[in-house]
This record gives sequence, structure tokens and C-alpha cells, in this order.
Amino acid sequence: LTGLAQDAPTVWEVGTEPAFPPFEMKDDSGNLVGFDIELMTAMGEAAGREVRFITLPFDGLIPALQSRTIDAAISGMTVTAERAQTIDFTRPYFKAGLAIAVRQDNNDITTLEDLEGKRIAVAIGTTGADQAGQVEGATVSTFDNSPLALQELLNGRVDAVVNDLPVTLYAIREANLEGLKIVGELVTEEYYGIAIPKNSEELTAMNDALGTLLQDGTYAEIYQRWFSG
Ligand code: ARG
Repeated sequence: LTGLAQDAPTVWEVGTEPAFPPFEMKDDSGNLVGFDIELMTAMGEAAGREVRFITLPFDGLIPALQSRTIDAAISGMTVTAERAQTIDFTRPYFKAGLAIAVRQDNNDITTLEDLEGKRIAVAIGTTGADQAGQVEGATVSTFDNSPLALQELLNGRVDAVVNDLPVTLYAIREANLEGLKIVGELVTEEYYGIAIPKNSEELTAMNDALGTLLQDGTYAEIYQRWFSG
């Protein structure tokens, strides 16, 4: 009985872009925390896998999956047909959608059409950036992450931000962005999935783990912790 390596669990190297609170962020000590982080950690426990997180820029996650540098990416990533051409997704684990944010004193904007000819800030590589890019005559400024785009709006240098509703809501409530508000209807309805390389041998283990956590109350407990009130 000398084979330590034999018994070592399979490792999931998991990429994430850590400026997307409350899904992934760094606490004051620099530790990764958030809904996605707890969910993935619990999935690893359920599947008997060791989870190791690696932080990457959001637009670096899909290339890292394609080169199999990472085994998965959990990053509030929306399942889209375009992304599904180059990578696979687990079953969806969260329902979200895009919302428009403006400054409190703005009463002119409620829809994407109202953004025609206006200045919009977005986060790089996101579905929000895709939507903003389709608005006629709009000037789109691209930032490394959502908090930076929202800060630009607060500073008055753009007219709106198109970003995931739960993240913008959390920022307005928790991150001292009271100067901002969400307007209109959801621009899109989106579902987050965990992204994995095409034909990953771990797909079943991940989907089974998600199923277990949904059934045994762990998912609900993690959800409560980050999204109650
Ligand atoms: N849901 C959006 C998308 O998939 C934004 C995700 C951004 N996530 C992050 N961790 N920065 O494009």
C-alpha cells in the first residue's frame, strides 16, 4: 500500500474571472468567494474531485477551454449557441438576463432603442457587449469587468451600462452605487452554465453533481446565502 498517487482524486482546474459579484469576487484577504465558487466547490465534493481555481480575463476563458489548459470555467457564463460551437456547457444552473442601468437622474432611457446614438459601457466578451454592439449609432466603451463599466456610468462618462441583472442589482445595493438605477424590462433572458471543453470526459460527473446539489438542498442553501434579501 504505497500508491499515494494512485488514490489522488481527479483535479478540476476551474477558470473564473473574479470581478463579477456576487458570483465570483475576491474578499479583503484576496480569497475567491461567491455563489459560483461555493457551487463549484460543493460540486467537486459531490463528485469526489479536487477543485482548483485559476483566475483569467473573461475573454480568456473560452480559449483556455479550447486548449484544455483548464477543465471547466464557472463565471456567470451565459449559455449561447455561438459559444456552444467551440465549447460545451453543463446543464444550466442559474437563470439571469441583461438589464440596462442608468444614473438616477436619467429619465430618457428604458429600452435598447433609447440607446441609439448614446454612449454605453460594457464588460469585454460578454453578452451585454454583444447586445450593446447591435445598437445603431451607439458608442460602446469596453472594460475588463462589470464593476469598471458601472463606475464609468457613475462618473458620468457614459449614458448606460448593459450588464447581467443580478450583478448590477448587487452592485447598486452592496457596492455604494446608489447613484444608479435599473430601467425598463429585461433585455434578454439568459441561463448560466459551467463551460467545459468539447467532449469533456467530466461532463457526466459535473451534471450528476449539480443534480445532487439541487436535490439535497445544498444548492438552495448556497443560493440563500448570496441572494436573500
Ligand atoms: N453572463 C455574461 C456572459 O456570459 C457575463 C458574464 C461575466 N462573468 C464574469 N465572471 N466576468 O457574457
